[in-house]
Amino acid sequence: MPATSRRSRQRCRGAKLLYLENPTSMVFDLQEIGRLAALAKAHGAATIIDNSWATPLFQQPLKHGIDLVVHSASKYLSGHSDTVAGVIAGSAERIARVNDLTYPYLGGKLSPFEAWLLVRGMRTLPLRMRQHQESGLAIAGAWPTTRWSPACCTRCSPTTRAAPR
Ligand SMILES: Cc1ncc(COP(=O)(O)O)c(C=O)c1O
Repeated sequence: MPATSRRSRQRCRGAKLLYLENPTSMVFDLQEIGRLAALAKAHGAATIIDNSWATPLFQQPLKHGIDLVVHSASKYLSGHSDTVAGVIAGSAERIARVNDLTYPYLGGKLSPFEAWLLVRGMRTLPLRMRQHQESGLAIAGAWPTTRWSPACCTRCSPTTRAAPR
């Protein structure tokens, strides 16, 4: 749904929070996050985005006006499927508020060893993401000339969107 559509504006009315994921899981749909951030702001709503798939290398939502960015660091950031971690990023003021409100109840969950695994994994993030991108584009570009049946395979690539949904 376009960020500026009447339906989007109506849905924002009275909202306190707009929670986004871009690209979306599984089908990799893209949203106009800058426009959605502006729309939320105009309605006095805060914005949070799950940036796990894009990683900070491919998308920096704070630059587009999003208030808080969350990542599952268990995925691309750590990159080796050997740790469960998360990241939240935003202004010092907002992060301090998150810490004040949640830290006393949830505590610091990441063990030193998992933190080490995460830092180790992030050293290769640029290389891994470049390869993911090249492989993804090669596969998306080959479709539908591959032998996969279009009946059971839909190309879901943000750069080469093919199928109507
Ligand atoms: C986009 C996205 N964000 C967050 C999560 C949660 O991640 P974790 O397994 O690190 O709790 C998932 C899990 O699959 C996910 O796909």
